[in-house]
Amino acid sequence: MKVVTEIAEIREQLSGLPTPLSLVPTMGALHLGHCALIQRARDLVSPSGSVAVSIFVNPIQFDRAEDLRTYPRSLEDDLEICRDLGVDLVFAPEKESLYHPDHSTLVTESLLTRHLCGATRPGHFDGVLTIVLKLFNLFQPNSAVFGNKDFQQLALIRRMVRDLNLATAIVGHPTVRETDGLAMSSRNTRLTPAQRIDASRIQRSLRAARDLIVTGECRPEVFLASARSHLLAGAPDEFAINYLELVDPENLQPVAKVRPGAIMATACSYGEVRLIDHLVIKA
Ligand code: PAJ
Repeated sequence: MKVVTEIAEIREQLSGLPTPLSLVPTMGALHLGHCALIQRARDLVSPSGSVAVSIFVNPIQFDRAEDLRTYPRSLEDDLEICRDLGVDLVFAPEKESLYHPDHSTLVTESLLTRHLCGATRPGHFDGVLTIVLKLFNLFQPNSAVFGNKDFQQLALIRRMVRDLNLATAIVGHPTVRETDGLAMSSRNTRLTPAQRIDASRIQRSLRAARDLIVTGECRPEVFLASARSHLLAGAPDEFAINYLELVDPENLQPVAKVRPGAIMATACSYGEVRLIDHLVIKA
């Protein structure tokens, strides 16, 4: 496995790797969710192709300095995991090597970012789309794998690829969960043991509200009130709901009527630790 830290080395290392190439962009602190994406990338390129993983805590997508400062970093463990999974190339740059000091160009999306994390984390998705476009330009991968867990991010990346005529095929992978239903996340390690146990309430509450569909209910406010009361029932003092919305899967705008396919999404926090999750309403 090659580990590259400088942009200038990428092209040279890539020229020695067989195609097709699949890229898995990450911010490190790898867990089983990331591993599933890497395995999916391997399946996409078959044993004869190549898998690249980027590990970079992208400063420009953090809207809070504290979140960036405390974001978990574990490069040595991450490299070990990548080696075990048969990754061919890891790109783990320093911030300085990816952004010029007077960097001034950003990718901005203006429709799908109006709600959910786009509305609550100003500038976040400009940072995500900008780094993803930079990585696509540097690697020119045939495919790139992203998790459905960050479904707004995935939808935005698909939109950018469509709108800017990029040549990379975007592959979404299902959310990998802990046994109690909590979506795996690098941020879970920042929960206290009690908060970690409590955090299964997030997916459980969304599921309880989803079950209303079998009663014929279709008013979004009824679903959201149910989810909200489950989320808050018996929650610790430091727990808060940042947003809870029911959106259309295509344009991510709030729905007027709940139909199968609609997405119920939430961001909740335990103090400074912010967790997101969602589910798809099924018939
Ligand atoms: P990060 O949070 O490290 O996630 C990297 C990829 O792993 C994303 O595509 C994310 O959706 C996926 N992922 C995270 N947890 C998952 C889970 N439990 N199940 C399945 N997939 C999961 O998302 C980012 O980094 C950054 O925004 C990035 C795209 C790398 C740009 O900086």
